[in-house]
Amino acid sequence: MTFGQRFARLVTDVVVRRPMLWRLFRAPLRSQFDKLAPVWDTIRQPDTFAPLDAALDRIDSHPQRVLDLGTGTGAVARLVAERFPEAEIVGADLSAHMIDQARRLTNSPRVTYQVADAQKLPFADGSFDLVTLGNMIPFFDELARVVASGGHVVVAYSAGPETPIYVPAKRLRTELGRRGFVDFAELSAARGIALLAAKR
Ligand SMILES: C[S@@+](CC[C@H](N)C(=O)[O-])C[C@H]1O[C@@H](n2cnc3c(N)ncnc32)[C@H](O)[C@@H]1O
Repeated sequence: MTFGQRFARLVTDVVVRRPMLWRLFRAPLRSQFDKLAPVWDTIRQPDTFAPLDAALDRIDSHPQRVLDLGTGTGAVARLVAERFPEAEIVGADLSAHMIDQARRLTNSPRVTYQVADAQKLPFADGSFDLVTLGNMIPFFDELARVVASGGHVVVAYSAGPETPIYVPAKRLRTELGRRGFVDFAELSAARGIALLAAKR
């Protein structure tokens, strides 16, 4: 891993255990992703979102309101828009430069983007039927707050444990289970993994 990737892993490990410490890391991580925004799509491989796609396959409802957290350049938001033609999707990211790229690459009126911090989201309780996180740090309290009862969450890591931002499925299950999520399914596809859960 590069220095930047090791830093992203360190931040993930610390923040999942101690979310309060995020305030120390917010500015440097945002700056790191602002710099990466112009080249982000060049490091993507064709199967990057295979695990996330496999998890979406398992959702038998038709989500209308979807939030893609840590959307980066919006690839997952666009994938979800293709999957669920009736859904309105919001892609949220800390990095304004990532959001600029996402807006440039998206031409669907159903997909909108917002600069927002996943630790303190500007959305009402239960605003979304589905929240997706692709290669993103989960902030469990906010995540649980914005998912509607009966809604779903998908957390996917494109290169499994080798993904710089990565949280093991066991930890995801424990944290989400504490916050009312049930019906966990773990999916493996290509090099990655995804976890699907439903909110009671
Ligand atoms: C590894 S990138 C993944 C981008 C995209 N989901 C993908 O898989 O291509 C992580 C993204 O999460 C964003 N991010 C990190 N912490 C965040 C936070 N607290 N709130 C919102 N976005 C955040 C970063 O700015 C970055 O764009």
